[in-house]
Amino acid sequence: MTDRVAGKRVLVTGAARGMGRSHALRLAEEGADVVLVDVCGPLPQLEYPLSSEDDLAETARLVRELGRRAVPKVADVRDAAAMQAAVDEGVAELGGLDASVANAGVITAGTWDTTTPEDWRVVLDTNLIGAWNTCVAAIPHLIAAGGGSLVNISSAAGIKGSPLTTPYTASKHGLVGMSLALANELAVHSIRVNTVHPTGVATGMAPMSLFGLLSETRADLGSLYENALPVPMVEARDVSNAVLHLVSDDARYVTGTQMKVDAGVTIR
Ligand SMILES: NC(=O)c1ccc[n+]([C@@H]2O[C@H](COP(=O)([O-])OP(=O)(O)OC[C@H]3O[C@@H](n4cnc5c(N)ncnc54)[C@H](O)[C@@H]3O)[C@@H](O)[C@H]2O)c1
Repeated sequence: MTDRVAGKRVLVTGAARGMGRSHALRLAEEGADVVLVDVCGPLPQLEYPLSSEDDLAETARLVRELGRRAVPKVADVRDAAAMQAAVDEGVAELGGLDASVANAGVITAGTWDTTTPEDWRVVLDTNLIGAWNTCVAAIPHLIAAGGGSLVNISSAAGIKGSPLTTPYTASKHGLVGMSLALANELAVHSIRVNTVHPTGVATGMAPMSLFGLLSETRADLGSLYENALPVPMVEARDVSNAVLHLVSDDARYVTGTQMKVDAGVTIR
């Protein structure tokens, strides 16, 4: 523990489990208080379950166990008004906001001829418009604080042409454009905007049909998902360390970057 973000107040979406929980705990370990947002319920278009209210409560408990404050809020990032209300309430409780981590995301899998408009809508609505709603809810508070950091969680799929998850890949590329544009627009307020690009991490985001497609129907595409470094996956904490850096003042002049935590998958 080195207090790298001591006293900072940080919003994390998708915080009930997986990497969102890991980001919240890593930030809390280094002295941050957190607003924790998650939808805590299923999305019918997805082939895997999302988190529960118990998961979100557990993240909050683990943060408090580290001696930091946690304000859990159930909200859907797709709902701009609900996000603004949740963030405003959380920030009122913490007394301000210094950073936001737009981490909530979903994935669908399929070949081009099985991917539906509904797949596109749920993925873009959550991953792209949801991240926009998160930034928009946070920005007024960051301006009030005299500056801050927006960290938007993209993917290796936001850099390369990851196949069989086309809406997801498009959404994660879209996050880069959105973040670059915001980085320009918000620099005048000393607000930094960066994206993080993880390779595979073992979480609840497990679209089994993708694994089937890659091992059978389109095994020829499997190598596109192989890391250069000799690890099949990285740990959530590896990605949280990048988030921690971008939130911290160590990165005070870092904006408009795409930070890869990808074991080299994007150089393949
Ligand atoms: N797991 C990976 O291999 C991987 C790789 C690269 C990038 N990512 C990205 O990392 C982020 C976190 O993913 P994860 O692997 O921890 O997945 P996860 O499914 O374990 O966690 C995602 C969390 O987001 C929440 N969420 C989903 N839709 C939401 C919505 N509409 N509103 C609010 N909350 C919502 C879920 O309930 C869940 O708690 C995502 O943006 C994902 O795209 C994941």
